[in-house]
Amino acid sequence: MVSRVIPVDNFDLVIFGGTGDLARRKILPGLFRRFLSGQMTEGSRIIGAARGEMDDEGFRTLVREAIAEFGGREKNETDCIERFVERLHYVPIDAMGEGGWTQLRDLMRLDVVRAFYFSVAPSLFGAIAERLHKYEIANADSRIVVEKPFGRDLATARALNATLAEHFNETQIYRIDHYLGKETVQNLMAVRFGNVLFEPLWNNHYVDHIQITVAETVGVGGRGSYYDKSGAMRDMVQNHLMQLLCLIAMEPPSKFEADEVRNEKLKVIRALQPVENHHIVRGQYDAHEGGQSYRQDAENPRSFTESFIAMKCHINNWRWAGVPFYIRTGKKMKARSSEIAVVFKDLGHSIFEGDEARHRNILAIRLQPNEGIDLQVTIKEPGPGGMRLIDVPLDMTFSEALGPDAEDVTDAYERLIMDVIRGNQTLFMRGDEVEAAWAWTDPIIQGWEKRNDVPKLYDAGSAGPDDALMLMHRDGRRWRDIKG
Ligand code: NDP
Ligand code: BG6
Repeated sequence: MVSRVIPVDNFDLVIFGGTGDLARRKILPGLFRRFLSGQMTEGSRIIGAARGEMDDEGFRTLVREAIAEFGGREKNETDCIERFVERLHYVPIDAMGEGGWTQLRDLMRLDVVRAFYFSVAPSLFGAIAERLHKYEIANADSRIVVEKPFGRDLATARALNATLAEHFNETQIYRIDHYLGKETVQNLMAVRFGNVLFEPLWNNHYVDHIQITVAETVGVGGRGSYYDKSGAMRDMVQNHLMQLLCLIAMEPPSKFEADEVRNEKLKVIRALQPVENHHIVRGQYDAHEGGQSYRQDAENPRSFTESFIAMKCHINNWRWAGVPFYIRTGKKMKARSSEIAVVFKDLGHSIFEGDEARHRNILAIRLQPNEGIDLQVTIKEPGPGGMRLIDVPLDMTFSEALGPDAEDVTDAYERLIMDVIRGNQTLFMRGDEVEAAWAWTDPIIQGWEKRNDVPKLYDAGSAGPDDALMLMHRDGRRWRDIKG
Protein backbone atom coordinates (compact mmCIF):
# COMPACT_ATOMS: atom_id res chain seq x y z
CA MET A 1 0.00 0.00 0.00
CA VAL A 2 1.42 3.40 -0.93
CA SER A 3 0.62 6.23 1.46
CA ARG A 4 -0.70 9.27 -0.36
CA VAL A 5 0.48 12.58 1.00
CA ILE A 6 -1.06 15.69 -0.47
CA PRO A 7 1.09 18.79 0.16
CA VAL A 8 -0.72 21.64 1.83
CA ASP A 9 -0.45 25.31 0.84
CA ASN A 10 2.51 27.35 2.03
CA PHE A 11 1.97 28.53 5.58
CA ASP A 12 3.36 30.58 8.43
CA LEU A 13 2.42 28.83 11.67
CA VAL A 14 3.01 30.81 14.85
CA ILE A 15 3.10 28.72 18.01
CA PHE A 16 2.45 30.84 21.08
CA GLY A 17 3.97 28.78 23.89
CA GLY A 18 6.39 27.31 21.32
CA THR A 19 8.87 26.44 24.08
CA GLY A 20 6.33 24.68 26.34
CA ASP A 21 5.71 21.02 27.05
CA LEU A 22 2.94 20.49 24.49
CA ALA A 23 4.93 22.17 21.73
CA ARG A 24 8.07 20.16 22.48
CA ARG A 25 6.36 16.80 23.02
CA LYS A 26 3.69 16.86 20.32
CA ILE A 27 3.45 19.84 18.01
CA LEU A 28 7.05 20.29 16.86
CA PRO A 29 7.99 16.59 16.47
CA GLY A 30 4.66 16.16 14.66
CA LEU A 31 5.47 18.97 12.25
CA PHE A 32 8.85 17.42 11.60
CA ARG A 33 7.12 14.17 10.60
CA ARG A 34 4.90 16.11 8.19
CA PHE A 35 8.03 17.76 6.79
CA LEU A 36 9.61 14.34 6.29
CA SER A 37 6.52 13.03 4.55
CA GLY A 38 6.75 15.89 2.05
CA GLN A 39 3.52 17.48 3.19
CA MET A 40 5.11 20.64 4.52
CA THR A 41 6.04 22.62 1.43
CA GLU A 42 9.36 24.43 0.84
CA GLY A 43 7.73 27.78 1.41
CA SER A 44 6.30 27.01 4.87
CA ARG A 45 7.67 28.29 8.17
CA ILE A 46 7.11 27.83 11.88
CA ILE A 47 7.54 30.72 14.26
CA GLY A 48 7.88 30.07 17.99
CA ALA A 49 6.72 32.77 20.40
CA ALA A 50 7.02 32.91 24.18
CA ARG A 51 8.42 35.22 26.84
CA GLY A 52 11.80 33.50 27.08
CA GLU A 53 14.58 35.48 25.41
CA MET A 54 16.26 33.57 22.61
CA ASP A 55 17.08 33.97 18.92
CA ASP A 56 16.23 31.74 15.97
CA GLU A 57 19.27 29.58 16.63
CA GLY A 58 18.27 29.08 20.29
CA PHE A 59 14.82 27.92 19.19
CA ARG A 60 16.30 25.60 16.58
CA THR A 61 18.44 23.98 19.26
CA LEU A 62 15.36 23.54 21.45
CA VAL A 63 13.53 21.86 18.57
CA ARG A 64 16.45 19.55 17.73
CA GLU A 65 16.42 18.47 21.37
CA ALA A 66 12.66 18.03 21.37
CA ILE A 67 12.83 15.76 18.33
CA ALA A 68 15.66 13.78 19.93
CA GLU A 69 13.66 13.35 23.14
CA PHE A 70 10.14 12.87 21.87
CA GLY A 71 10.48 11.84 18.22
CA GLY A 72 10.03 8.27 16.99
CA ARG A 73 12.36 6.52 14.58
CA GLU A 74 12.57 9.77 12.55
CA LYS A 75 14.87 11.25 15.17
CA ASN A 76 17.80 9.61 13.38
CA GLU A 77 17.21 11.59 10.17
CA THR A 78 19.86 14.16 11.07
CA ASP A 79 20.20 15.77 7.61
CA CYS A 80 16.46 16.24 7.39
CA ILE A 81 16.33 17.69 10.90
CA GLU A 82 18.82 20.33 9.78
CA ARG A 83 16.73 21.18 6.71
CA PHE A 84 13.62 21.31 8.89
CA VAL A 85 15.04 23.67 11.51
CA GLU A 86 16.03 26.15 8.77
CA ARG A 87 12.32 26.92 8.54
CA LEU A 88 12.08 27.82 12.22
CA HIS A 89 12.09 31.31 13.66
CA TYR A 90 11.50 32.74 17.09
CA VAL A 91 10.09 36.01 18.40
CA PRO A 92 10.12 36.82 22.12
CA ILE A 93 6.61 37.97 23.03
CA ASP A 94 4.71 38.41 26.27
CA ALA A 95 1.05 37.77 25.48
CA MET A 96 0.09 40.37 28.06
CA GLY A 97 2.61 42.99 26.94
CA GLU A 98 3.23 45.08 23.83
CA GLY A 99 6.79 44.04 22.96
CA GLY A 100 7.54 41.77 20.02
CA TRP A 101 4.25 42.14 18.15
CA THR A 102 5.48 44.49 15.43
CA GLN A 103 8.49 42.22 14.93
CA LEU A 104 6.09 39.32 14.44
CA ARG A 105 3.98 41.32 12.00
CA ASP A 106 7.04 42.23 9.92
CA LEU A 107 8.15 38.62 9.85
CA MET A 108 4.88 37.24 8.54
CA ARG A 109 4.13 36.99 4.84
CA LEU A 110 0.95 38.08 3.12
CA ASP A 111 0.68 35.41 0.45
CA VAL A 112 0.59 32.28 2.64
CA VAL A 113 -1.88 30.70 5.08
CA ARG A 114 -1.47 32.30 8.50
CA ALA A 115 -2.22 30.08 11.47
CA PHE A 116 -1.76 30.79 15.18
CA TYR A 117 -1.54 27.94 17.66
CA PHE A 118 -2.44 29.06 21.21
CA SER A 119 -0.37 26.50 23.12
CA VAL A 120 -0.58 28.57 26.30
CA ALA A 121 -2.87 28.79 29.32
CA PRO A 122 -6.47 29.67 28.34
CA SER A 123 -6.22 32.84 30.46
CA LEU A 124 -3.94 34.22 27.71
CA PHE A 125 -6.26 33.48 24.77
CA GLY A 126 -8.07 36.81 24.95
CA ALA A 127 -4.88 38.87 25.18
CA ILE A 128 -3.33 37.11 22.19
CA ALA A 129 -6.49 37.31 20.06
CA GLU A 130 -6.78 41.02 20.79
CA ARG A 131 -3.17 41.78 19.91
CA LEU A 132 -3.24 39.75 16.71
CA HIS A 133 -5.87 42.21 15.54
CA LYS A 134 -4.49 45.34 17.09
CA TYR A 135 -1.15 44.80 15.36
CA GLU A 136 -2.85 43.66 12.13
CA ILE A 137 -1.12 40.30 12.22
CA ALA A 138 -4.26 38.24 11.66
CA ASN A 139 -6.49 38.75 8.65
CA ALA A 140 -9.94 37.43 7.70
CA ASP A 141 -8.42 34.22 6.38
CA SER A 142 -6.21 33.50 9.40
CA ARG A 143 -6.86 30.52 11.64
CA ILE A 144 -6.40 30.11 15.35
CA VAL A 145 -5.94 26.81 17.14
CA VAL A 146 -6.91 26.51 20.78
CA GLU A 147 -6.21 23.71 23.20
CA LYS A 148 -8.23 22.12 25.92
CA PRO A 149 -9.21 22.79 28.65
CA PHE A 150 -11.83 24.88 26.90
CA GLY A 151 -13.33 26.36 30.04
CA ARG A 152 -14.01 24.53 33.29
CA ASP A 153 -17.79 24.83 33.15
CA LEU A 154 -20.49 26.29 30.92
CA ALA A 155 -20.03 29.86 32.14
CA THR A 156 -16.27 29.94 31.54
CA ALA A 157 -16.58 28.19 28.17
CA ARG A 158 -19.17 30.75 27.08
CA ALA A 159 -16.92 33.57 28.21
CA LEU A 160 -13.99 32.07 26.29
CA ASN A 161 -16.11 31.64 23.16
CA ALA A 162 -17.28 35.24 23.47
CA THR A 163 -13.71 36.51 23.85
CA LEU A 164 -12.53 34.68 20.75
CA ALA A 165 -15.65 35.74 18.83
CA GLU A 166 -14.73 39.39 19.37
CA HIS A 167 -11.83 38.93 16.97
CA PHE A 168 -12.43 35.75 14.96
CA ASN A 169 -15.33 34.09 13.17
CA GLU A 170 -16.28 30.55 14.09
CA THR A 171 -14.87 29.40 10.73
CA GLN A 172 -11.46 30.63 11.86
CA ILE A 173 -11.44 28.88 15.25
CA TYR A 174 -10.04 25.35 15.53
CA ARG A 175 -10.71 23.83 18.98
CA ILE A 176 -8.51 20.77 19.35
CA ASP A 177 -9.67 17.52 20.89
CA HIS A 178 -6.77 15.30 19.96
CA TYR A 179 -8.95 12.18 20.20
CA LEU A 180 -10.67 13.29 17.00
CA GLY A 181 -7.30 13.16 15.23
CA LYS A 182 -6.59 9.56 16.20
CA GLU A 183 -6.55 7.16 13.27
CA THR A 184 -8.92 4.62 14.81
CA VAL A 185 -11.34 7.25 15.99
CA GLN A 186 -11.73 8.28 12.38
CA ASN A 187 -12.05 4.65 11.50
CA LEU A 188 -15.15 4.60 13.64
CA MET A 189 -16.81 6.80 11.06
CA ALA A 190 -15.41 4.73 8.19
CA VAL A 191 -16.76 1.52 9.76
CA ARG A 192 -20.18 3.00 10.42
CA PHE A 193 -20.71 4.97 7.26
CA GLY A 194 -18.54 3.08 4.75
CA ASN A 195 -20.13 -0.35 5.19
CA VAL A 196 -23.63 -1.49 4.40
CA LEU A 197 -23.33 -4.16 7.07
CA PHE A 198 -23.66 -2.22 10.28
CA GLU A 199 -26.12 0.60 9.72
CA PRO A 200 -29.28 -1.57 9.71
CA LEU A 201 -28.23 -3.02 13.09
CA TRP A 202 -27.10 0.26 14.63
CA ASN A 203 -30.13 0.97 16.83
CA ASN A 204 -32.13 -0.14 19.83
CA HIS A 205 -33.68 -3.10 17.98
CA TYR A 206 -30.34 -4.88 17.76
CA VAL A 207 -27.91 -3.22 20.16
CA ASP A 208 -28.11 -4.27 23.80
CA HIS A 209 -25.64 -1.74 25.11
CA ILE A 210 -22.43 0.10 24.29
CA GLN A 211 -19.27 0.28 26.40
CA ILE A 212 -16.64 2.97 26.04
CA THR A 213 -13.45 2.50 28.04
CA VAL A 214 -10.40 4.76 28.11
CA ALA A 215 -8.02 3.25 30.64
CA GLU A 216 -4.55 4.64 31.31
CA THR A 217 -1.71 3.20 33.36
CA VAL A 218 -0.15 6.60 34.07
CA GLY A 219 -1.01 8.53 37.20
CA VAL A 220 -1.16 12.26 37.62
CA GLY A 221 2.40 12.72 38.87
CA GLY A 222 3.93 15.87 37.39
CA ARG A 223 0.55 17.37 36.46
CA GLY A 224 -1.06 17.12 39.88
CA SER A 225 -1.74 20.81 40.36
CA TYR A 226 -3.69 21.03 37.09
CA TYR A 227 -5.41 17.67 37.45
CA ASP A 228 -6.51 18.13 41.04
CA LYS A 229 -8.67 21.09 39.98
CA SER A 230 -10.02 19.15 37.07
CA GLY A 231 -10.56 15.45 37.73
CA ALA A 232 -11.52 12.76 35.23
CA MET A 233 -14.87 14.34 34.47
CA ARG A 234 -13.42 17.62 33.20
CA ASP A 235 -10.15 16.19 31.91
CA MET A 236 -11.51 13.23 29.92
CA VAL A 237 -15.30 12.80 29.97
CA GLN A 238 -16.46 16.29 28.96
CA ASN A 239 -14.24 16.16 25.88
CA HIS A 240 -12.61 12.91 24.75
CA LEU A 241 -15.25 10.42 25.89
CA MET A 242 -18.05 12.73 24.84
CA GLN A 243 -16.58 12.90 21.33
CA LEU A 244 -16.32 9.11 21.13
CA LEU A 245 -19.91 8.78 22.27
CA CYS A 246 -21.01 11.28 19.63
CA LEU A 247 -19.26 9.45 16.82
CA ILE A 248 -20.73 6.12 17.81
CA ALA A 249 -24.24 7.45 18.35
CA MET A 250 -24.75 10.21 15.79
CA GLU A 251 -27.02 9.99 12.79
CA PRO A 252 -25.27 9.70 9.43
CA PRO A 253 -24.35 13.19 8.26
CA SER A 254 -25.37 13.89 4.67
CA LYS A 255 -21.73 14.59 3.79
CA PHE A 256 -18.39 14.20 5.53
CA GLU A 257 -18.12 17.94 5.95
CA ALA A 258 -17.44 20.05 9.00
CA ASP A 259 -20.85 21.47 9.77
CA GLU A 260 -22.76 18.37 8.66
CA VAL A 261 -20.74 16.21 11.07
CA ARG A 262 -20.79 18.75 13.88
CA ASN A 263 -24.54 19.31 13.62
CA GLU A 264 -25.09 15.59 14.13
CA LYS A 265 -22.71 15.41 17.08
CA LEU A 266 -24.41 18.37 18.70
CA LYS A 267 -27.79 16.63 18.46
CA VAL A 268 -26.39 13.65 20.38
CA ILE A 269 -25.02 15.82 23.18
CA ARG A 270 -28.29 17.70 23.46
CA ALA A 271 -30.19 14.42 23.61
CA LEU A 272 -28.14 13.10 26.53
CA GLN A 273 -30.34 12.48 29.53
CA PRO A 274 -29.18 13.96 32.85
CA VAL A 275 -27.40 11.18 34.72
CA GLU A 276 -28.77 10.05 38.05
CA ASN A 277 -26.28 9.92 40.87
CA HIS A 278 -26.66 6.17 41.45
CA HIS A 279 -25.55 5.66 37.85
CA ILE A 280 -22.18 7.28 38.51
CA VAL A 281 -19.12 5.86 40.27
CA ARG A 282 -16.23 8.14 41.12
CA GLY A 283 -12.92 6.63 42.14
CA GLN A 284 -9.49 7.70 43.31
CA TYR A 285 -6.43 5.47 43.10
CA ASP A 286 -4.80 4.34 46.27
CA ALA A 287 -1.19 3.36 46.88
CA HIS A 288 -0.52 -0.20 45.81
CA GLU A 289 2.61 -2.33 45.58
CA GLY A 290 5.01 0.51 46.26
CA GLY A 291 3.27 3.01 43.94
CA GLN A 292 2.03 6.35 45.18
CA SER A 293 -1.59 7.15 45.89
CA TYR A 294 -3.45 9.84 43.97
CA ARG A 295 -3.24 12.15 46.98
CA GLN A 296 0.54 11.73 47.10
CA ASP A 297 0.86 12.30 43.35
CA ALA A 298 -1.39 15.35 43.49
CA GLU A 299 0.35 16.58 46.65
CA ASN A 300 -3.02 17.19 48.24
CA PRO A 301 -3.58 14.90 51.25
CA ARG A 302 -7.26 15.87 51.49
CA SER A 303 -8.16 15.74 47.81
CA PHE A 304 -11.61 14.46 46.80
CA THR A 305 -10.84 14.72 43.08
CA GLU A 306 -11.71 11.66 41.00
CA SER A 307 -9.06 9.88 38.94
CA PHE A 308 -11.67 7.38 37.74
CA ILE A 309 -15.24 7.65 36.64
CA ALA A 310 -17.78 5.15 35.37
CA MET A 311 -21.31 6.05 34.41
CA LYS A 312 -24.41 4.82 32.67
CA CYS A 313 -25.82 7.29 30.17
CA HIS A 314 -28.90 7.34 27.99
CA ILE A 315 -29.55 9.18 24.77
CA ASN A 316 -33.13 10.31 24.44
CA ASN A 317 -33.80 9.80 20.77
CA TRP A 318 -35.56 7.39 18.46
CA ARG A 319 -32.47 5.36 17.60
CA TRP A 320 -31.10 4.84 21.10
CA ALA A 321 -34.11 4.88 23.44
CA GLY A 322 -33.52 2.22 26.11
CA VAL A 323 -29.90 1.44 25.13
CA PRO A 324 -27.45 2.17 27.95
CA PHE A 325 -24.05 3.65 27.12
CA TYR A 326 -21.61 2.64 29.85
CA ILE A 327 -18.52 4.83 29.86
CA ARG A 328 -15.46 4.67 32.08
CA THR A 329 -12.05 6.20 32.24
CA GLY A 330 -9.31 6.14 34.84
CA LYS A 331 -5.67 6.67 35.66
CA LYS A 332 -3.38 3.95 37.04
CA MET A 333 -5.55 1.18 35.75
CA LYS A 334 -4.35 -2.37 35.11
CA ALA A 335 -3.54 -1.73 31.43
CA ARG A 336 -3.53 1.03 28.85
CA SER A 337 -6.50 0.22 26.75
CA SER A 338 -9.12 2.27 24.97
CA GLU A 339 -11.94 0.59 23.19
CA ILE A 340 -15.54 0.95 22.17
CA ALA A 341 -17.65 -2.19 22.23
CA VAL A 342 -21.04 -2.44 20.61
CA VAL A 343 -22.73 -5.41 22.26
CA PHE A 344 -25.58 -6.77 20.20
CA LYS A 345 -28.70 -8.40 21.63
CA ASP A 346 -29.12 -12.13 22.16
CA LEU A 347 -30.72 -14.25 19.50
CA GLY A 348 -34.45 -14.37 20.11
CA HIS A 349 -34.40 -18.15 19.79
CA SER A 350 -31.66 -20.72 19.27
CA ILE A 351 -32.39 -23.57 16.86
CA PHE A 352 -29.48 -25.58 18.23
CA GLU A 353 -30.55 -28.15 20.74
CA GLY A 354 -28.61 -28.11 24.02
CA ASP A 355 -27.15 -24.69 23.33
CA GLU A 356 -27.53 -23.07 26.71
CA ALA A 357 -24.73 -20.56 26.35
CA ARG A 358 -25.55 -16.98 25.57
CA HIS A 359 -23.95 -16.08 22.26
CA ARG A 360 -23.58 -12.48 21.44
CA ASN A 361 -22.10 -10.57 18.59
CA ILE A 362 -19.78 -7.84 19.78
CA LEU A 363 -18.12 -5.29 17.57
CA ALA A 364 -15.06 -3.98 19.40
CA ILE A 365 -13.13 -1.03 18.05
CA ARG A 366 -9.71 -0.89 19.72
CA LEU A 367 -8.51 2.69 19.76
CA GLN A 368 -5.15 2.08 21.41
CA PRO A 369 -2.87 0.26 21.71
CA ASN A 370 -2.97 -2.59 19.18
CA GLU A 371 -5.39 -0.59 17.02
CA GLY A 372 -7.93 -2.64 15.18
CA ILE A 373 -11.43 -3.93 14.99
CA ASP A 374 -12.81 -7.26 15.98
CA LEU A 375 -16.20 -8.74 15.54
CA GLN A 376 -17.16 -11.57 17.84
CA VAL A 377 -19.16 -14.17 15.92
CA THR A 378 -20.58 -17.54 16.84
CA ILE A 379 -19.38 -20.60 14.94
CA LYS A 380 -19.43 -24.34 15.31
CA GLU A 381 -16.66 -25.69 17.46
CA PRO A 382 -14.40 -27.62 15.04
CA GLY A 383 -14.29 -31.40 15.20
CA PRO A 384 -16.72 -34.12 16.17
CA GLY A 385 -19.19 -33.88 19.04
CA GLY A 386 -22.22 -32.45 17.31
CA MET A 387 -23.25 -28.87 16.85
CA ARG A 388 -21.45 -27.18 19.73
CA LEU A 389 -21.20 -23.42 19.38
CA ILE A 390 -18.33 -21.16 20.35
CA ASP A 391 -17.66 -17.44 20.04
CA VAL A 392 -14.56 -16.39 18.11
CA PRO A 393 -13.24 -13.01 17.04
CA LEU A 394 -12.98 -11.99 13.41
CA ASP A 395 -9.94 -9.89 14.11
CA MET A 396 -8.54 -7.10 12.02
CA THR A 397 -5.47 -5.82 13.78
CA PHE A 398 -4.25 -2.88 11.73
CA SER A 399 -0.57 -3.72 12.12
CA GLU A 400 -1.26 -7.15 10.58
CA ALA A 401 -3.77 -6.06 7.95
CA LEU A 402 -1.84 -3.01 6.77
CA GLY A 403 1.71 -4.24 7.26
CA PRO A 404 4.53 -1.71 7.76
CA ASP A 405 2.26 1.17 6.70
CA ALA A 406 0.37 0.77 9.96
CA GLU A 407 3.50 1.87 11.83
CA ASP A 408 3.47 5.14 9.94
CA VAL A 409 0.00 6.02 11.10
CA THR A 410 -0.06 9.76 11.44
CA ASP A 411 -0.13 11.07 15.00
CA ALA A 412 -3.29 12.92 16.01
CA TYR A 413 -1.61 16.31 16.41
CA GLU A 414 0.16 16.34 13.06
CA ARG A 415 -3.01 15.33 11.23
CA LEU A 416 -5.02 18.04 12.97
CA ILE A 417 -2.44 20.76 12.29
CA MET A 418 -2.44 19.90 8.60
CA ASP A 419 -6.25 20.10 8.65
CA VAL A 420 -5.93 23.62 10.05
CA ILE A 421 -3.70 24.61 7.14
CA ARG A 422 -6.16 23.01 4.70
CA GLY A 423 -9.00 24.89 6.35
CA ASN A 424 -10.91 21.70 7.21
CA GLN A 425 -12.80 21.96 10.51
CA THR A 426 -14.45 18.53 10.44
CA LEU A 427 -12.28 17.13 13.24
CA PHE A 428 -12.51 20.19 15.48
CA MET A 429 -15.15 21.08 18.05
CA ARG A 430 -17.53 23.88 17.33
CA GLY A 431 -18.30 26.39 20.08
CA ASP A 432 -21.88 25.22 20.56
CA GLU A 433 -20.73 21.60 20.91
CA VAL A 434 -18.34 22.50 23.70
CA GLU A 435 -21.02 24.51 25.48
CA ALA A 436 -23.58 21.71 25.15
CA ALA A 437 -21.06 19.26 26.62
CA TRP A 438 -20.54 21.52 29.64
CA ALA A 439 -24.29 22.02 30.03
CA TRP A 440 -24.59 18.24 30.47
CA THR A 441 -21.54 17.88 32.76
CA ASP A 442 -22.08 20.91 34.99
CA PRO A 443 -25.05 19.60 37.04
CA ILE A 444 -23.19 16.34 37.70
CA ILE A 445 -20.13 18.15 39.05
CA GLN A 446 -22.25 20.62 40.99
CA GLY A 447 -24.08 17.68 42.60
CA TRP A 448 -20.77 16.24 43.85
CA GLU A 449 -19.66 19.59 45.17
CA LYS A 450 -22.94 20.13 47.01
CA ARG A 451 -22.81 16.70 48.62
CA ASN A 452 -19.04 16.77 49.29
CA ASP A 453 -18.93 13.51 47.40
CA VAL A 454 -16.02 11.29 48.40
CA PRO A 455 -14.58 9.11 45.60
CA LYS A 456 -14.24 5.36 46.23
CA LEU A 457 -10.64 4.20 46.58
CA TYR A 458 -9.30 1.64 44.13
CA ASP A 459 -5.94 -0.08 44.01
CA ALA A 460 -3.54 1.34 41.47
CA GLY A 461 -3.18 -1.34 38.80
CA SER A 462 -6.76 -2.57 39.13
CA ALA A 463 -9.90 -2.15 37.00
CA GLY A 464 -11.25 0.61 39.23
CA PRO A 465 -13.52 0.49 42.29
CA ASP A 466 -15.80 -2.53 42.81
CA ASP A 467 -18.80 -0.22 42.61
CA ALA A 468 -18.01 0.26 38.93
CA LEU A 469 -18.37 -3.49 38.40
CA MET A 470 -21.66 -3.37 40.32
CA LEU A 471 -22.95 -0.63 38.04
CA MET A 472 -23.00 -3.23 35.27
CA HIS A 473 -23.80 -6.30 37.36
CA ARG A 474 -27.00 -4.71 38.62
CA ASP A 475 -28.14 -4.64 34.99
CA GLY A 476 -27.07 -8.23 34.35
CA ARG A 477 -24.11 -7.10 32.25
CA ARG A 478 -20.39 -6.91 32.72
CA TRP A 479 -17.51 -4.76 31.60
CA ARG A 480 -15.12 -6.17 29.07
CA ASP A 481 -11.72 -6.99 30.43
CA ILE A 482 -9.16 -4.19 30.28
CA LYS A 483 -6.32 -5.74 28.28
CA GLY A 484 -3.28 -3.89 26.99
P1 NDP B 1 3.83 24.81 29.61
O1 NDP B 1 3.68 25.49 30.92
O2 NDP B 1 4.80 23.70 29.48
O3 NDP B 1 4.22 25.90 28.50
C1 NDP B 1 3.62 27.14 28.44
C2 NDP B 1 4.22 27.94 27.28
O4 NDP B 1 3.60 29.21 27.23
C3 NDP B 1 5.71 28.18 27.41
O5 NDP B 1 6.28 28.22 26.12
C4 NDP B 1 5.76 29.56 28.06
O6 NDP B 1 7.01 30.14 27.79
C5 NDP B 1 4.61 30.23 27.32
N1 NDP B 1 4.04 31.37 28.05
C6 NDP B 1 3.64 31.41 29.34
N2 NDP B 1 3.19 32.63 29.64
C7 NDP B 1 3.28 33.38 28.52
C8 NDP B 1 2.98 34.72 28.19
N3 NDP B 1 2.49 35.58 29.10
N4 NDP B 1 3.21 35.14 26.94
C9 NDP B 1 3.72 34.31 26.00
N5 NDP B 1 4.04 33.03 26.25
C10 NDP B 1 3.82 32.57 27.49
O7 NDP B 1 2.35 24.36 29.17
P2 NDP B 1 1.93 23.20 28.16
O8 NDP B 1 2.76 23.30 26.93
O9 NDP B 1 1.89 21.92 28.88
O10 NDP B 1 0.42 23.58 27.85
C11 NDP B 1 0.03 24.62 26.98
C12 NDP B 1 -1.48 24.59 26.84
O11 NDP B 1 -1.87 23.35 26.24
C13 NDP B 1 -2.22 24.66 28.17
O12 NDP B 1 -3.43 25.33 27.99
C14 NDP B 1 -2.50 23.18 28.49
O13 NDP B 1 -3.61 23.02 29.33
C15 NDP B 1 -2.77 22.65 27.10
N6 NDP B 1 -2.54 21.21 26.96
C16 NDP B 1 -1.32 20.67 27.23
C17 NDP B 1 -1.11 19.32 27.06
C18 NDP B 1 0.22 18.72 27.30
O14 NDP B 1 0.34 17.52 27.04
N7 NDP B 1 1.21 19.43 27.77
C19 NDP B 1 -2.19 18.42 26.59
C20 NDP B 1 -3.43 19.10 26.29
C21 NDP B 1 -3.57 20.44 26.48
P3 NDP B 1 7.56 31.39 28.68
O15 NDP B 1 7.37 31.02 30.10
O16 NDP B 1 8.97 31.55 28.24
O17 NDP B 1 6.72 32.57 28.28
C1 BG6 C 1 -5.28 14.53 27.77
C2 BG6 C 1 -5.56 14.50 29.24
O1 BG6 C 1 -6.18 15.39 27.13
O2 BG6 C 1 -5.42 13.22 27.24
C3 BG6 C 1 -4.61 13.54 29.93
O3 BG6 C 1 -5.38 15.80 29.77
C4 BG6 C 1 -4.67 12.16 29.30
O4 BG6 C 1 -4.93 13.44 31.32
C5 BG6 C 1 -4.50 12.28 27.79
O5 BG6 C 1 -3.63 11.39 29.85
C6 BG6 C 1 -4.75 10.94 27.13
O6 BG6 C 1 -4.39 11.02 25.77
P1 BG6 C 1 -3.88 9.74 24.98
O7 BG6 C 1 -3.71 10.23 23.58
O8 BG6 C 1 -2.60 9.33 25.65
O9 BG6 C 1 -4.95 8.71 25.14
